[in-house]
Amino acid sequence: MTRPNIERPDFGGPFPEHIAIIMDGNGRWAQAQGLRRVFGHRRGARTVREITTSCAEMGVKSLTLYAFSVENWKRPRREVLYLMRLLKRYLVQERPTLMRNGVRLRAIGRVDDLPEDSLRTLRETERVTGENEGMLLRLALSYGSRAELADALKGVARDAMAGLLDPDTIDEQTMRRYLYDPVTPDPDLMIRTAGEMRLSNFLLWQASYAELHVADVCWPDFDRAQLLKALESYARRTRKFGGLVDAVGPGGDDGERKG
Ligand code: IPE
Ligand code: IPE
Ligand code: MG
Repeated sequence: MTRPNIERPDFGGPFPEHIAIIMDGNGRWAQAQGLRRVFGHRRGARTVREITTSCAEMGVKSLTLYAFSVENWKRPRREVLYLMRLLKRYLVQERPTLMRNGVRLRAIGRVDDLPEDSLRTLRETERVTGENEGMLLRLALSYGSRAELADALKGVARDAMAGLLDPDTIDEQTMRRYLYDPVTPDPDLMIRTAGEMRLSNFLLWQASYAELHVADVCWPDFDRAQLLKALESYARRTRKFGGLVDAVGPGGDDGERKG
């Protein structure tokens, strides 16, 4: 069995089980040094390796990386082709590192939109890493949250029409069953790089109560120290989920809670 030695940093507060990252700023990173955008993507792939390894070593249970959005298909054909080639190379080259770190890779998104060879490579990497018992690495590929919700709704409607689902019983748990990955718990911490303060159609349902952290550096410069900064910030957060801070456990209610 493959699993790294877990060394969890202690910032005196909670540690996120599931981290989601919007990896942004590859193009800007390259342009800032007079290089073409694709060089930023290449360097960004290196960051993916470093951050995946760090998270696995720290005992993060799930890491979801926004690698390519449904909207990204609108980019110039050359850039899209480059990204697809890079993806395929990454999925082959990273296998030994993923295996060494006990990482199980899965994709979420409209992966059928990927070029056939990239999809085949993706399925093979999912298969090869499928038995690993360490961290789950979810790559969001051709992913869009509105697309995911529309796809889910299609499934709901089909099952309702087939008599498999009673519309009156539909609740939040039903909806979840029709999402791309109904099993993995919601992200606790959502990080975005390159200083941008938006979600760009990422995990809108699942990130309802995620804690947000925006790093100013572009993705190629996001390193272990940056990750630790995000974790330190997370450790200071108070998560309430709409409730109150010091909600009293079972059996006690003083009627005067703060929060
Ligand atoms: C993120 O970097 C990578 C992808 C979206 C594929 P960008 O390519 O968005 O870089 P910027 O935001 O233009 O700098
Ligand atoms: C979000 O970044 C998508 C990914 C990181 C894959 P974008 O660069 O595509 O987002 P916008 O266009 O700045 O919102
Ligand atoms: Mg961007």
